[in-house]
Amino acid sequence: MAVLSAVNLKKNYGDVNVIPNLNLDVEEGDFTVLVGPSGCGKSTLLRMMAGLEDVTNGELQIDGRRANDLHPRERGVSMVFQSYALYPHMTVADNIGFGLKLEGRKKSEIKQAVHEVADTLQLGELLERKPGQLSGGQRQRVAIGRAIVRKPRIILFDEPLSNLDAKLRVEMRMELMKFHRNHNITTIYVTHDQVEAMTMADKIAVMEKGHIQQFDTPKNLFSAPANPFVAGFIGSPQMNLFDITKVTDASLQTSGNAEIKINPSAASHFSDIAALGVRPEHLSIHEQSDNLSIEAEVDLIESLGDESIIHFVSGNERITGRFYTEINCQIGQKLFLSFDMEHVHLFDEKNNRVS
Ligand SMILES: Nc1ncnc2c1ncn2[C@@H]1O[C@H](COP(=O)(O)OP(=O)(O)OP(=O)(O)O)[C@@H](O)[C@H]1O
Ligand SMILES: [Mg+2]
Repeated sequence: MAVLSAVNLKKNYGDVNVIPNLNLDVEEGDFTVLVGPSGCGKSTLLRMMAGLEDVTNGELQIDGRRANDLHPRERGVSMVFQSYALYPHMTVADNIGFGLKLEGRKKSEIKQAVHEVADTLQLGELLERKPGQLSGGQRQRVAIGRAIVRKPRIILFDEPLSNLDAKLRVEMRMELMKFHRNHNITTIYVTHDQVEAMTMADKIAVMEKGHIQQFDTPKNLFSAPANPFVAGFIGSPQMNLFDITKVTDASLQTSGNAEIKINPSAASHFSDIAALGVRPEHLSIHEQSDNLSIEAEVDLIESLGDESIIHFVSGNERITGRFYTEINCQIGQKLFLSFDMEHVHLFDEKNNRVS
């Protein structure tokens, strides 16, 4: 059974409808990641789960029971914020134990719980320090300590690593993954970082304007995006996406005045499509037209050592290719880009995936 469910969940701020109607089931022990453009409602959703924000309509369920009106402390949910929000004048030990103190627990009980958590997070040596005397990663661990000391059923993270430098982010990412593997606490994690999302998640919810566009495993999101939004959002460099305005036996016309040549024997495959996507890694360069190809001009070459990212133009379309072998081409050169048929994503007029 789902530990946490959103059932027709709605959120308005005054007249602004931030979450129109959202459904989500988070399974016990899963690491669920929420991604989506800025302002799509990720933090709002987390804050409703934590009880820091009212639900306008619909239901939030924890263990199958309505939780809309439960006090944050009664939900078994803890949240770690981007800013950590530690109390600067308190020691690490007092910061971690603060929630238990508010609950009126005994001093000895608090001390024991704080020490247990500190051991798990390797904070034992730092318990008497103040947050100002800690590194970013250590502060982050204190914030996690404070969240887990009450043994929550669910832990929510709102972009917890975005304040850290690149190296520390990678370290903390691995620590969080280990922590999750060892404790198996159901986790819901918001991030802007695709690598974080893809590497940490059991399942990812891709959000846009308060809607969940797809809720799936990282692998499925990548290989079978449900619609063009998800197709363009997951993957870097982005998938090349073409709006198709006209389909004939020999070609697909794009809204950017380019022509994708198709083999007439495969024309029926494309009859009802409104968009075609192909990832940069699924392009190859040829001197002649192929089964599915586009004539393009080399615009920019980025050599990254073991791979090259090459940008092309065709009509008003911009196309990106990623190549793992050495490519000899010059800026301005015209050539054919062939699309790997096995890895082409097709969408219909209603933005649904066709294949
Ligand atoms: N208190 C508020 N009053 C009015 N509108 C709000 C309030 N809080 C958030 N919003 C609006 O709700 C929408 C969703 O905000 P939210 O903070 O959930 O986005 P987000 O997905 O977390 O974005 P980001 O990635 O930038 O953190 C935004 O358009 C925001 O302007
Ligand atoms: Mg946010």
